[in-house]
Amino acid sequence: AHKPNHFLTLKTLPPATILSLVHRSLAFKHAHPHTPPASNTNMLHGKTLALLFTKKSTRTRISAETAWSSLGGHPMFLGSNDIQLGDPAKGGESWRDTATVVGSMVDAVFARLGDHKEIEELAQYSRAPVINALTAKYHPMQALADIMTIYEATLGERVLKEIVSSGEDLPRLEGVKVAWVGDANNIINSLLVSLPRLGIHVSVATPAGYEIDADIKEFVAVEGARAKNVAGDTYGTVSYTTDPSVACNGAHIIVTDTWVSMGQEADKESKLKDFAGYKVTEAMAKLGNAHPDWKFMHCLPRKLEEVDDEVFYNPDRSLVFSEAENRKWTAIAVFEHVMGGK
Ligand code: CP
Ligand code: NVA
Repeated sequence: AHKPNHFLTLKTLPPATILSLVHRSLAFKHAHPHTPPASNTNMLHGKTLALLFTKKSTRTRISAETAWSSLGGHPMFLGSNDIQLGDPAKGGESWRDTATVVGSMVDAVFARLGDHKEIEELAQYSRAPVINALTAKYHPMQALADIMTIYEATLGERVLKEIVSSGEDLPRLEGVKVAWVGDANNIINSLLVSLPRLGIHVSVATPAGYEIDADIKEFVAVEGARAKNVAGDTYGTVSYTTDPSVACNGAHIIVTDTWVSMGQEADKESKLKDFAGYKVTEAMAKLGNAHPDWKFMHCLPRKLEEVDDEVFYNPDRSLVFSEAENRKWTAIAVFEHVMGGK
């Protein structure tokens, strides 16, 4: 049978495809308010996107609904409290049955779920392509917007506009260093399976007891070794530490996220203790010898403990609100890609 064009993780996406999605996202942003370009205005006419969400969302839902509509399609929000989905042992409808039914009536499913196995099961039984809107393991839509934001911060608007309007490929960002100071979660997992393959260095600080998942580390190691053997290929170095100031050394961009991801609320108290010393501040960056012009990123929503207001609201440091807006431009590019457009 025909296999739908699922979009569950950036791990399986070649670097050239990641960069062409970012290129396209930038083109949409630069064309705004004439987005999308006229030829694509109606490519999703008559097509429905089901947003199947078992967790809360602000950015992901808004970016997806507006992105899908901007290509002429109809988005349909299905919160888990509104549909029959649930544990079959407790009278709910199974993933398998839900996936089969939803996938038979819509053109794509955008799913925000818990365990990554849930979205794999959804993809297994859905006839319509399934796009990951966040699981506990990965958040590819966020990582794409982050890559776009890193390109903007590194190359600047003028250069990017020239590249995009001339149709040239985006260059690899060799030499750029990103520091992650925070939890071993879905966001850093998605950055680790993408950034090094674009030539970007990543240094990761997580507290003792919060190691990056072994399969992610393995992917990073295997891909790095493979790139070494391919002439002309580039791969960013990746290092792991428990000391935030070590990770910040030479960093152009410091990235964090909440210490308590959705679904981990019961662990909040112990996690806050384990993450002592992980709040991103000017003092931390200085102690670690971050690049003097370092920038700050965060996927949002931001909680008060992981970054102070001085950094978060400093317009010379913080990229967080353009990073959030970029969710919309990258969502348009992903929908166009998954639905067989450019
Ligand atoms: N960054 C992000 O995914 O935000 P939401 O949870 O608000 O969608
Ligand atoms: N790591 C966070 C990201 C929220 C957008 C979570 O999974 O809750």
